[in-house]
Amino acid sequence: MVYQFALIGYPIKHSLSPWIHQSFLNKANLEGMYSIYEITPDDSFSRKLKRLMDDQVDGFNVTVPYKEKIISFLDDIDEDAAKIGAVNTVVNRNGKWIGYNTDGAGYLRSLESKFPDFHLDKSKRILLIGSGGATRGIYYALVQAGFLHIDITNRTTEKAAEIAKLKGNFTTTAVLSLEQAEEILQEYDVIIQTTSVGMKPNHEKVIFRLNQLKSPSIVSDIIYQPLETKLLKQARDAGAGLHFGHTMLLYQAQYAFEIWTGRKVPIGNMDEHLQRHLEGR
Ligand code: ATR
Repeated sequence: MVYQFALIGYPIKHSLSPWIHQSFLNKANLEGMYSIYEITPDDSFSRKLKRLMDDQVDGFNVTVPYKEKIISFLDDIDEDAAKIGAVNTVVNRNGKWIGYNTDGAGYLRSLESKFPDFHLDKSKRILLIGSGGATRGIYYALVQAGFLHIDITNRTTEKAAEIAKLKGNFTTTAVLSLEQAEEILQEYDVIIQTTSVGMKPNHEKVIFRLNQLKSPSIVSDIIYQPLETKLLKQARDAGAGLHFGHTMLLYQAQYAFEIWTGRKVPIGNMDEHLQRHLEGR
């Protein structure tokens, strides 16, 4: 069979997903294509989506600004995606459209690929910075994985409190202002930066100081442009273990590809290839 995959969102012309999925297809020895299907704010979303679905694609990814909007157009949605309230992967199962969310679980896979023992100690203290859609998926994945202490800090604490409602029976979560979290930073073993602050072209911007960073600790930033954000540079100077945002891209895609094809393709040297690709931009 020849697989047909697509990406919907806006703007997506520079998306890395076609490269990533084509690599997976090649590695898995499968035939197929992954196309960009941009839906602009001026388009009729339902009309364009129907055209894509009528084309009998086997699956598609959904990115901003449609991860929530897509839900009402699907036949069914996986329980995790329902809890997160957003879908980034849709599969065509015998004509039925089923939605999944691979962002949080993909993030966790990427973290564990760098730190294989990460899951062993569920009592490590984790701090999430931010409260956007990505934060929600990551928080949910950490709760599902059984981590016991996950605090959230954000400029707007109400949004953090909203995410904290996803906590299970065993997780404790404090909601903190950015200033409060900076002050008690030495309490955390893992810091995960999920805001857009520090992304090109505003890569000099940081909203969070790492002065009180504990040693040893892990600092993760989901931004991948630049590859090493200012926050990660500070973490490197402080001797922390670093986790880079571009790896999340690879692993959330790996999981999506698995949902579509049933094949888990190893990432292998795609990490280095993607780094080179991003540096060349
Ligand atoms: P997503 O695309 O993941 O849904 P988003 O809704 O754009 O992300 O959220 C971006 C995150 O970056 C939020 O946590 C936002 O803080 P607020 O919830 O207070 O808006 C954070 N963010 C963006 N710009 C910021 C800034 N200049 N200072 C502090 N936080 C900022």
